[in-house]
This record gives sequence, structure tokens and C-alpha cells, in this order.
Amino acid sequence: MTEKRKRAALAVSLVAAALALGCVAALLVDHFVTLGAEAAATTRIEALELEVGTDASVATRIEAERERVTQASLARQARGGRLAWLLLGLSSLAVATGKVWASTRPTPSPSLERLQAAAVEPTLGLVGERRPSAPLATEPDAEFVDCLVRRLGPSRETAIPLLQAIQNHFGYLPDEALQRVCETTEITPAQIAGTSSFYAQFRRSPVGRHVVRVCHGTACHVAGATRVDDELRRHFGIRPGEDTDPDRRVTLDAVACVGCCSLAPVMMVGDETAGRLTPAAARNILDETLVEP
Ligand code: FES
Repeated sequence: MTEKRKRAALAVSLVAAALALGCVAALLVDHFVTLGAEAAATTRIEALELEVGTDASVATRIEAERERVTQASLARQARGGRLAWLLLGLSSLAVATGKVWASTRPTPSPSLERLQAAAVEPTLGLVGERRPSAPLATEPDAEFVDCLVRRLGPSRETAIPLLQAIQNHFGYLPDEALQRVCETTEITPAQIAGTSSFYAQFRRSPVGRHVVRVCHGTACHVAGATRVDDELRRHFGIRPGEDTDPDRRVTLDAVACVGCCSLAPVMMVGDETAGRLTPAAARNILDETLVEP
């Protein structure tokens, strides 16, 4: 519907509602005016009835007065009926055009907080974080994306919560999932590219089965974090410029201080912290972690 028609529907609705209110006011005024007139006529008739005993001609005036009251009552009923029908018609018109106008109003976009709250559903996992107990999905799953879109909505404002939930589910943003998002929402590939590259939390490449956060804060750097990192890269065959080994067993995540500098150098495997590392000790810890079921 065009903007002009929307405005016309709103105008008709408002005018009809105003006229309907006018009808209600007219009915009320007519009712009270008639009541006053009838009371006055009754008073006059009662006064004439007192005179009728001494003057027979008064009977004719009483009869005329009663006839006038009767005609006034009939006229009031006729006016009331017409006003009631008019009121009904105007009310219906106001409601119908009001509904037309309301149906064309844009649905308010859900707030980012609400969208993020929706994405924190237990089935989806915590937005922006990986739950240690929740295994990552391995195959891009269109049904999962469709479920997310149904839950969060197809508007452009849902881009960040959608990407967060997808990343949480797969550990990264698979191309197939992003393509499905573009097919089923108003989100464009350009918007996805911009959002996913702007926020450091989003990954475009698969993540390993274990994410190892190697601290490169000052204390750990001085204590030999680079040597730990180099050894782990060499041991797992992680190529320069990449952070995950070809078998997707381990992803090395270089992080800033994790808050236990006295144990430097430090790495975290999931929620476990390992400190005072040597390159060999770090390698052995990860080897043991990988053989655990
Ligand atoms: S610098 Fe590594 S834990 Fe603080």
C-alpha cells in the first residue's frame, strides 16, 4: 500500500471516529433536552388539570398539550433511531479503516538485547562463547539456520545474533550457513562480510577440536610464550598464517594476559590452565589431552 493510501485510511478512520463521538454527544443531548421538555409539559398538564373543574375549555388545552408531548416523544424516537444507525456505521468505518492503517505499520524491530537473549537459548548455546560440554557441529546444516531465522526473525537487525549463534554452533561461520542466511533473510552478503570482518569474535575458517589459548601477555612473552607457540605449531603441523592443524585437532589462539602471570608462560586448554610451561611440557599436555576420549 502506498504512503498516500495509508494516510487516507488514517484520515478516514479519525474523521469517522470523531463523527461517531459527535453522534454519541447528540444522542445524550437530545435525551436530556427531551427529558426536560417532558417534565415541563407534565407540570403544565398537571396545572391545567387543576383548572379543568372550573373551566371546561381547559380540557381542550390539556388534550392539545398531551398531543404535543406525544408528537415530541415520537420525533425523539425517530431522531434517536437515525442517530443510532449513523453511529453504528461510523464506528464500523472507523474500525475498518483503522485496521487497514494499523496493518501497514512497520513491525518494530526487536531490540538487540532481546535478540541476543533469544540466541542464548539452551539449545543454541551461549552467544559468543563455546560451551565446553557442547560438541561443535561438523556439517553445515540448513535446517539449523532455518530454525535460527524462525527464532530471531529475517530482518537486517538480526545479523549479529544470527552470526553469533552460527559461530557458537559450528565454531566458525561456514559459507553454506551464511549463504542460507542470505537466502532466507533480508541480510545481504555485503552485510555479512562487513559484520564478520569487523568483529574479532567471528571466524571464517573451521576451528579445531581443542582450542588452545596461548598467552602472549608481557609476563608470558618474557617467560618464553613464543617458544611454546612455535613448538606447538611445529608439532601439530600448523602452517604459517593459520591457527588450526590440517586434521582440525587443535586451534591455537594467541591471547593477551589471562590473569595468572605468576605461572608464566601459560596456556589454557578449554577451561584448564597450564603454567610454567616449557615447549616440551606444552606439547605433552596437548598430546595427553588429544588421547583422552
Ligand atoms: S601475561 Fe600471561 S598470564 Fe599474564
